[in-house]
Amino acid sequence: MPRILVSGADGQLGQSLKAIQDTYTPIYEIIFLSQADLDITTSSNIQSVFEKYKPDFFFNFAAYTQVDLAEENKEEAFLINSQACAYLGQNCAAFNTHLVHISTDYVYPGKGPVPYREEQAGSTLNQYGASKLSGEQAIQQSKAVYTIIRTSWLYSVFGSNFVKTMYTLGLERDELNVVDDQFGSPTWTRDLIHAIFNLIQHKATGVYNFSNEGVCSWYDFAQKIMEYKGITCQIKPVSTAVFPRPAKRPPFSVMDKAKYKSATGADIPKWDKALLKMLSNLE
Ligand SMILES: NC(=O)c1ccc[n+]([C@@H]2O[C@H](COP(=O)([O-])OP(=O)(O)OC[C@H]3O[C@@H](n4cnc5c(N)ncnc54)[C@H](OP(=O)(O)O)[C@@H]3O)[C@@H](O)[C@H]2O)c1
Repeated sequence: MPRILVSGADGQLGQSLKAIQDTYTPIYEIIFLSQADLDITTSSNIQSVFEKYKPDFFFNFAAYTQVDLAEENKEEAFLINSQACAYLGQNCAAFNTHLVHISTDYVYPGKGPVPYREEQAGSTLNQYGASKLSGEQAIQQSKAVYTIIRTSWLYSVFGSNFVKTMYTLGLERDELNVVDDQFGSPTWTRDLIHAIFNLIQHKATGVYNFSNEGVCSWYDFAQKIMEYKGITCQIKPVSTAVFPRPAKRPPFSVMDKAKYKSATGADIPKWDKALLKMLSNLE
């Protein structure tokens, strides 16, 4: 049975895989490593773990994900999102392990108006995006077999994310201002997990975009959350200028998923249908 090691297992994506692992454990052995089990910023730690487990696949779900803080903590962001990827690439090459790495829509210029194809990455808008792009390049320069999956607007019942925040605030407040001039595609972590397995089962290597299908603004997204949860809180559209933040956000980060669809033959669930399913599990 192929063995999968998962780093960053206590993060949103790691917990999402844990929750549905039974779908895949008849075919794969899955070992979850939290940051305490494996800090990916030390090459010797990675080597010890590879020697111990000799994995067939390594799912790198560990990352520095605090977009605004990355502007001031650039070194830490690059250490985790880039340098550690170089270490993972080296070890995956040495141990003949297939590296599956999660990246982001923030590697694209983010101006639109046409959905980005995989080869259009570059000229990132903030340090987080730059660190993730640099991590991808480190993996591509290693001799490892790799699958890099770029995703966007992740949410789940785990960790903190836009859906959980809106739900909590919506119950507390009568109205909320939400930006209506940034467009993207939300991604339910559960659909991303299935996409990862679809790709590896089709032996798809290289770089792939994946999100749920369809496009919305944060305002549209918040409105759907309120509608599906029957919350009466009024969502008011505002421009990005009303919420100045340290890191610039892309006005348009929609990704073209034709490459994923052609590699796997799989249909991608629409973002609002996925949201409805996720919300049925959110108390
Ligand atoms: N969230 C989004 O909207 C979004 C959008 C696009 C792409 N992505 C990408 O999707 C992936 C998963 O994101 P997520 O939302 O699951 O992130 P997350 O919830 O922040 O989880 C990241 C995990 O990485 C761990 N970690 C941090 N530094 C580490 C280190 N040095 N060694 C080992 N583990 C370390 C963290 O541990 P601690 O909890 O102990 O800090 C955390 O458990 C990331 O690659 C992210 O860049 C996310």
